[in-house]
Amino acid sequence: MIENGSRVTMEEITALAKRRGFIFPSSEIYGGIGGFFDYGPLGAVLKRNVKDAWWRETVELRDDVVAFDSSIVMHPSTWVASGHVAAFHDKLVDCRNCKHRFRADHLSSLAKCPDCGMTGSLTEPRNFNLMMTTNVGPLEDSASLTYLRPETAQGIFVNFKNIYQSARKKPPFGVAQIGKSFRNEITPGNFTFRVREFEQAELEYFVPDDGHDLECYERWVVARKQWYSDYGIKPERLRFYELTEQERPHYARAGTDVEYLFPWGWGELESIAHRGTYDLDAHMKLSGKDLSFFDEATRAKYTPLLIESSAGMDRTTLTMLIDAYDNETIVDEGGKESKRTVLRFHPKIAPVQTGIFPLARNKPDLVERAQALERALRPHVRTQYDEGNVGQLYRRQDEIGTPFCIMVDYQTIDDGTVTVRHRDSMKQDRVGGDALAGYLAERL
Ligand code: GAP
Repeated sequence: MIENGSRVTMEEITALAKRRGFIFPSSEIYGGIGGFFDYGPLGAVLKRNVKDAWWRETVELRDDVVAFDSSIVMHPSTWVASGHVAAFHDKLVDCRNCKHRFRADHLSSLAKCPDCGMTGSLTEPRNFNLMMTTNVGPLEDSASLTYLRPETAQGIFVNFKNIYQSARKKPPFGVAQIGKSFRNEITPGNFTFRVREFEQAELEYFVPDDGHDLECYERWVVARKQWYSDYGIKPERLRFYELTEQERPHYARAGTDVEYLFPWGWGELESIAHRGTYDLDAHMKLSGKDLSFFDEATRAKYTPLLIESSAGMDRTTLTMLIDAYDNETIVDEGGKESKRTVLRFHPKIAPVQTGIFPLARNKPDLVERAQALERALRPHVRTQYDEGNVGQLYRRQDEIGTPFCIMVDYQTIDDGTVTVRHRDSMKQDRVGGDALAGYLAERL
């Protein structure tokens, strides 16, 4: 039995995401389309912050990883070499009675349809390729047929030589990219967890076959653990599951799934794998082109081994939302109890970092002062100006996870100080106008 380590339900998360503008069903006015979602004004910023956090640690703060951005549509032979055309399948089962479709591995038995309950109505499992197809050019024939990439990694493999020669890199070094991938999932579900269009952040790290490859793989597992910890994911809801030899593909020397305890149970966020020379070998074989590495210094030619870390950015964004969610009882000075919903985002991830309000919306001097302060802070932190009932302003910012709120009041007009309220503790500090930027920078 999987324990439910999260108190929030998916209904609560979905409702909050819609109400506050994090995530909407795609093309909702036409009834939506299964497995596709849109990120609203706050969700788009949240996801960008998640991607930026990955990019910063994986690329910008390292001297051994270079950036890449390949096309979504690639030559169809790419997917023959990678094995996706032949083997990127799920087993599909249809119910002859209610016409619903299921992934065979999601069913506990093939005897009875889990939706309509009819016995003997399910078809035999058959292979269903998960790649989405498209046609390139004006003719819709088999010659123009190609695919939307189901992973970003292949764009890096087919460019391996272009990249190492132009960047003057020598293994060990990595190539990173963030981009859209598409999979025609049979049963999309659990909100943005299993979707048909999603973003992956993939690192392909090439190492020489000199006996240190497993150490390098371990270092990446540690680095990824650190990343989740740095951005505040609760350690008791995160696990690094090491795949057994039977669970790994035959060519993989090691593999770890990073999993989070979602409200419905454990789900994969990322896979880290030691893939040997499988991918470069496969492209060399089919293309007939040399993708091995030539070391000018030693005059040695070899095919590097590959360590891959592949994280889903939509799943990570959803994790940030769920993990940050808290619904707590607060007691005011008069002993009155009330509830508040608060998203305890890491300050670097929070879509809005500072909310700025005037104490009264009908006092032009307070309004002008608050708006001027918001404009002054905007180049430095992600700000939002708002006005209205003070209690409601704080509740709204709590619900979108804003770490700090600044109140401009009558004292501000006299001495330039403002009240800074902390999201998590709800404590308030009085901060001098000149000290404010430094105060925020220190805490954000
Ligand atoms: N290049 C390796 C690769 O693609 P994967 O385990 O198939 O490996 C990596 O995918 C990550 O991509 C997953 O851990 C998950 O976070 C994300 N992902 C895969 N399929 C997804 C889907 N249908 N919806 C959302 N994210 C998905």
